Amino acid sequence: MAACAKLAGGDGEEARKEEEPQVLEPGAAPFGNFPHYSRFHPPEQRLRLLPPELLQRLFPPKGSETRPILGLDVGCNSGDLSVALYKHFLSLHDGKTCSDASRELRFLCCDIDPGLVKRAEKECPFPDALTFITLDFMNHRTRKVLLSSFLNQFECSVFDIGFCMSITMWIHLNHGDQGLWEFLAHLSSLCCYLLVEPQPWKCYRAAARRLRKLGLHDFDHFRSLAIQGDMANQIVQILTQDHGMELVCCFGNTSWDRSLLLFKAKHTIENYPIPESLIEEEKERNRLRFWRQ
Ligand SMILES: C[S@@+](CC[C@H](N)C(=O)[O-])C[C@H]1O[C@@H](n2cnc3c(N)ncnc32)[C@H](O)[C@@H]1O
Repeated sequence: MAACAKLAGGDGEEARKEEEPQVLEPGAAPFGNFPHYSRFHPPEQRLRLLPPELLQRLFPPKGSETRPILGLDVGCNSGDLSVALYKHFLSLHDGKTCSDASRELRFLCCDIDPGLVKRAEKECPFPDALTFITLDFMNHRTRKVLLSSFLNQFECSVFDIGFCMSITMWIHLNHGDQGLWEFLAHLSSLCCYLLVEPQPWKCYRAAARRLRKLGLHDFDHFRSLAIQGDMANQIVQILTQDHGMELVCCFGNTSWDRSLLLFKAKHTIENYPIPESLIEEEKERNRLRFWRQ
């Protein structure tokens, strides 16, 4: 494993505006379902850390394989990041593919908030490639039905890659330690690779402080969370020790101090081995990090 030397996501009090636009009604976004999330956490901040050719490198075509690469975006909000990821990984500019993308992409994007999903559907410029559905990912029955029906179209049982961007805190606050653990368990069983952007602990404190300021009740679980502190590291531990995933690399930190972590399910290693070039790049990143400290 090309492990990250020291994962970011600290606990500093100097938190900037972490998770909330000021225009919201009190308590209007209990799941992080902010109507204009991408305005204050723009997709570009994350994309600039990700190699555009990543998916084509992780999933080179095998033999006569023609099926598209399948992605699952959990907590897609109004789809801005989903669309941006799609364009980024196909190196799309002005609707034209610039890279030698040898495989198509198809993303299933889900969110618990039907209003956001409706907007995502309405505004998506690539309706054939991106499917948006309303889904509470923590609802076992609906999740199984909706995800299987998508995967069956391609005669697949798992997604090639899952995107889990800035959602772990909301699952954790609303479902507790057990909920976070189960969320990560489901994702790791559903995806060969998983890209995770965990919120650092300071965001939890900011979210709880905001509720208190508004005179609302604390999140049900905030005070009883035993999983806390360095959240990126906690999530690495859960995924690698409990859920059979391997940390492939950390692409660095966004200006909001959030790590972008790529994991791979160990049981799928023989299908798509981790490209040597990615391992070498991660070693180089760690070497540079070491020298800069
Ligand atoms: C902070 S936003 C992140 C949006 C997007 N992933 C990004 O990084 O730009 C978190 C999203 O997760 C969604 N969410 C929270 N709990 C969820 C759940 N149980 N199932 C599906 N989506 C959920 C919220 O509605 C919200 O849109």
